[in-house]
Amino acid sequence: MYTEKVMDHFSNPRNMGELENASGVGTVGNAKCGDIMRIFLDIDNNIVKDVRFKTFGCGAAVATSSIATELVKGKTVEDALKVTNKAVMDALDGLPKAKVHCSLLAEEAIHAALWDYAQKNNIEIEGLEPPKEDIHEHEEEDDE
Ligand code: FES
Repeated sequence: MYTEKVMDHFSNPRNMGELENASGVGTVGNAKCGDIMRIFLDIDNNIVKDVRFKTFGCGAAVATSSIATELVKGKTVEDALKVTNKAVMDALDGLPKAKVHCSLLAEEAIHAALWDYAQKNNIEIEGLEPPKEDIHEHEEEDDE
C-alpha cells in the first residue's frame, strides 16, 4: 500500500521537532481525520535555512511533513512556496488515494508558516494566500 520512501520517512522522520525563535510557524489541521501539522521555518536573507515539523497524525502525514521539510530546506522563500502537494507526493513515489489529503496538509502547513513569516516582517510574498484553514472553526464544524 505504501511506497518504500513513505515507509522510510515514516520510520525515520527528518527534521522532526521545533525551532526556537522560528521566523515563521504554520499550524494546519484536517477536520475529517483530526490530524494536525505544524511547520517551523528559520528564514535568513530570503533563504529557508532550517525547518522542523511536529505532526499529530497518521503515518502518511508524518512522511509528507518529513519529506516537505527536505524539499523546502535551502530554498528561497519563492521556491519554497512552489512546493506543492504534488511535489510532496512525487518525492514519496506516490500515496494511496485515501492519503492524498495528508500531502495537502504539508503544502498548507508550509504556506501557513510562510504567511506567518511575511506577517511578522511586514512583507508580501507574491502568490501567497492567507491560510484558509482555521483549525478551531473546523473543530466546531466537526462537532455539528
Ligand atoms: Fe488525515 Fe493523514 S489521515 S492527515
